Amino acid sequence: MAEETNGVANFHEAEEESQAQEDIWKCICGFTEMAVVKCAIELGISDFLENHQEPITLNQLSSALGCSASNNYLYRIMRFLINRGIFKEVFIGHGEMGYVQTPVSRLLRRDGQNSMAALVLLESSPVMLAPWHYLSARILEKENTATFSAAHGKNVWEYAKTNPEHSKLINDALACHARVTVRVIIDNCAEIFKGIESLVDVGGGNGTTLGMLVKAFPWISGINFDLPHVVSVAPHCHGVVHVEGDMFDSVPNAQAAFLMVVNCCNLQIRKLSMYFHPERIASLFFDSTAPRTPRPNTNPPNSAFEDWEFSLSLSSPATLSPHLYPQSDWSN
Ligand SMILES: C[S@@+](CC[C@H](N)C(=O)[O-])C[C@H]1O[C@@H](n2cnc3c(N)ncnc32)[C@H](O)[C@@H]1O
Repeated sequence: MAEETNGVANFHEAEEESQAQEDIWKCICGFTEMAVVKCAIELGISDFLENHQEPITLNQLSSALGCSASNNYLYRIMRFLINRGIFKEVFIGHGEMGYVQTPVSRLLRRDGQNSMAALVLLESSPVMLAPWHYLSARILEKENTATFSAAHGKNVWEYAKTNPEHSKLINDALACHARVTVRVIIDNCAEIFKGIESLVDVGGGNGTTLGMLVKAFPWISGINFDLPHVVSVAPHCHGVVHVEGDMFDSVPNAQAAFLMVVNCCNLQIRKLSMYFHPERIASLFFDSTAPRTPRPNTNPPNSAFEDWEFSLSLSSPATLSPHLYPQSDWSN
């Protein structure tokens, strides 16, 4: 009997051990999903499938992308993506299989309507991955240096100022995020914008957010306010005037302010409260980490935007909750 009990216990232990091994391998290889999805975007696989409209064989895809015949990496990349449900394979007759799109792969088109490709390209860039290597150091250190600054010696906006390529990655990614989130605001919170004649989007990026709001609520005249290196390359946008500046110095005058809030929002909202009546600040959280709970160590003023790389990674449109903030919420 004792032998039997030991046998069962040993069996469970072995099962647990083997599950633990499996789980740790998932951690070890966790980066591959992002890397392979990035590769698929860079190769334009989703765009090609979308334009072709019919299932594509491996050979067709390989020659369309200009891969050498002896190279079987493309097959392995596609197999990986299919295993994760990102692309699909269907039988096309004569013993052949063809690749087709899925709802997920459609999000990887470069210029698709709800494309998330720009966000993947930003978050998988070496610049944005470097800060993650400073996570443990940040937890242990007393000075509370943001991981981005620890990796690059300056905050993300200062970095973008002198690195136009990275600035473009950021602007494109934020515009892609805006296209998804602002649609939710337009569909669910139209009443917020009633009677507002002029609206300034503080930290409005390339103006995508305001462009969509002005199109949906054409009585609004929009002012897109952002740092000079962002505004200087922002595309023309009907109904929107681009204004450059630093919100910690001043904010253009308008009837109301809009702020797409990322994580440590209180400082920005407090700053805006110096210029706008409380009921005239519309603010949108897209941080899933309990954003309205005051954090024990509030960042010093100049690092107000520094945490954004975390919150962007954690954000999800499902957690959106647009608010007009009552004044009582501003004290934290
Ligand atoms: C997280 S992004 C939000 C972009 C845009 N609202 C959107 O959702 O697409 C923050 C924006 O604030 C801008 N920004 C950062 N610091 C700023 C400052 N001190 N004054 C004005 N804009 C600033 C950045 O350049 C960036 O475009």
